[in-house]
Order: sequence, then structure tokens, then C-alpha cells
Amino acid sequence: MFESFKEQPADKILMLMQAFREDPRTDKIDLGVGVYKDADGNTPVMRAIKAAEKTLWETETTKSYTGLAGDPGFADAMVAMVLGDAVPRANVAAAATPGGTGAVRQAFDMIRVANPGARVFVSDPTWPNHLSILKHMGMEVVPYRYFDGETRAVDFAGMIADLHQAMPGDVVLLHGCCHNPTGANLNLAQWQAVVDLLLKQEAVPMIDIAYQGFGDGLEEDAAGVRLVASQMPECLIAASCSKNFGIYRERTGLLMAVARDASRRTLNQGTLNYLNRQNYSFPPDHGARLVTMVLNDPDLRADWAAELEDVRNSMLGLREQLASELRRLSGSDRFGFIAQHRGMFSRLGASPEQVEALRRDHGIYMVGDSRLNIAGLNATTVPILAEAIVKVGI
Ligand code: LMR
Repeated sequence: MFESFKEQPADKILMLMQAFREDPRTDKIDLGVGVYKDADGNTPVMRAIKAAEKTLWETETTKSYTGLAGDPGFADAMVAMVLGDAVPRANVAAAATPGGTGAVRQAFDMIRVANPGARVFVSDPTWPNHLSILKHMGMEVVPYRYFDGETRAVDFAGMIADLHQAMPGDVVLLHGCCHNPTGANLNLAQWQAVVDLLLKQEAVPMIDIAYQGFGDGLEEDAAGVRLVASQMPECLIAASCSKNFGIYRERTGLLMAVARDASRRTLNQGTLNYLNRQNYSFPPDHGARLVTMVLNDPDLRADWAAELEDVRNSMLGLREQLASELRRLSGSDRFGFIAQHRGMFSRLGASPEQVEALRRDHGIYMVGDSRLNIAGLNATTVPILAEAIVKVGI
């Protein structure tokens, strides 16, 4: 039976990880997969996570099942972190998922159950796995303009024009902050304009927030999500703990369904529980428990927030350094957008040939659409990258 398999399309980001590993050059630079790295190229376990792990090891008495939606304490802590007091807690149904990708997948599943004909509007470009999952699930995708290739800022007029096509029951997928892959983000006035339009079109927003704390700060990065949740009658929010807690391999995420009142929450919660049961039964608990411990303990939380701020500031510093190095080498301001973008990624706007030349001639790896992971750099490699960018004629 399995002879019928066709070769599956390789994931561009994961393929790049593999190619980087196999490259024997010792001075190669990995700006591919979205994993935070410190100046020495390590992805450390955060101090507060390490401390929570120690306490957990000493105090955990059972590994028996949690609930289908995971530990309620995790949902409470995460809903508070993402939504603040934007909506009453009683309106929010939530289920733990294996990572942010699990939350995205469950959100699409929930949409499909609610409205099998729903179209999902996605930014052009978006995280490639959004498209891959939607295709796998047989759901219709409608791209909306998002990125202006000239200015490397949001093409807001194009975005709004395209979102006018959304119909009642369609879903509009938005990135909560730190847009992946472009690094170009909506400001609050633009978030408000999107909300006004979606209210008019009766479309449902779905927000993927995978980098809270990596852009302008923990609270600032959640401002768009909170605005949407407080004004739309319903929305879905897929949150990841992989990056901001540095627990990538623990697969820790949360899907939230915000309803306009508490009575509608019950059906949403039942559906989330049902979908977890169908897809993997109980969600993983280890990472979720660590996150809960960190968020609920004032000392651990303060230490985690401070370390997260250091991570954020180091990426901002690298952005400034790269932009100014490129200003010096190119004698122009055309790379100023690198300092304006936020999060781990920026899209350079290079051609596939230029991206290939960076890899072949300089051992610099970035995704084929010229997305670079700022955190893959350090003070020493920034000038090397800047020089290579100018040399390949970007
Ligand atoms: C990325 O965009 O590089 C990350 O979200 C990792 C992944 O799974 O693709």
C-alpha cells in the first residue's frame, strides 16, 4: 500500500538546517531556522527554566494524565500573559498543544469543524508551514498583500484592499508580533483599522503569536492581540512558548478561543477538548508546567523577564550594528529597514541567486526568500555579513 507514496515536498527551513550541518566550512554562518542564539552561538536553557526544572524534579510526585486541555494553571498563566485584562477570563476557552505549531494546527481544525467552507486569508508572505498545513488539510488559502518589496515595510494599503474580499465566516490569519518572515509589523493604528474592517466583513481573526517579548517588549508585543480580542466578537489565538521561554523541544503552546460572552465559551472549550482527544489525546505537560511555575513565582518570573529583555536587546543591538555597517559600506540608507524591523527575522529583499551566492561563496545560510535570523549573528559576524551583502550586489 505504501508504494503509492509520492515524495513529499521538503520544508525549506528544515532543509536549510540540514545543509548547514553538512557544510564542512568552519567559518559558516547560520541565519536560517528561527532559534535564538547567544553571541557564542549557543541556545541556552533560560535560568528560570533551569531553576523550575530542579524544583519540579524534587517535588513532582506523579506523571499521570492531566486534563484533555492540559493543566488549567498553564492556561490561566498564559491567558494572563497574552491577553492581560483585555477580555474577561470567563470568555476564553483554552487548550495546551504540542508547541505553537500544534496550536496553529488545532486552530485550523477548529475552523474546519465550524465552517468547512471557510477560506483562510494569509499574509503574502507568511511562515511557509502555515501554507503547508493548510494545504495538507485541504483548506482554501487566499493570500493578502503584506510586504512592500521596495520599502521593506508593511504594504498596508494593499493589505486593506485585499482584506475587503473576506466574507462572513472567512478567517484572517495575522501575526501577533515579529512577523515571520519579514520582520515588518503593524502599528496600533493599523491594527485598529484591520479590526474595523474585519468587523464590517464579519470575518474571524486568527492570530499566531510565537515571539511575544522578542520585539518591543512583553506587553508591547501583545498590544495588537489584545486590541483584536477586546473588540471582535470572536477570535482564535495560537501562542508558542518555544522562543520566549527557550523550550523549543518541549513542544509547549496554547490555543485560545475568545468568545463574546461566557456562555459561548463552554461549546468552544468542549470543541478544543474534543480536537485534542482526536489528534493526540492529552497534550505534553513538562514544558507547560515549567512555564506555569515561572509565571506564577514572582522571583522566577522577574529573572525570566530580565533574561528575555537581554535577549531582545541583544537582537536590537545587532540590528543597529548591521544597519550602520551596511550604511557605511553601501554609502546609502537603503538598509535602514533592518533597524526598523522587529523580532528575529528580517527579509532582505535579495534574489534567490543572491541568496545562493551568499551560501556558496561566503558560507552564509539564510532562507531562500532572503529571510535572515538576526539572532544567528554576533558582533564579529555582522561586518562579515555586511561585506558579503554588498559584494553579492544586494
Ligand atoms: C522558523 O520559522 O524558522 C521557526 O518557526 C522554526 C520552524 O519550525 O520553522
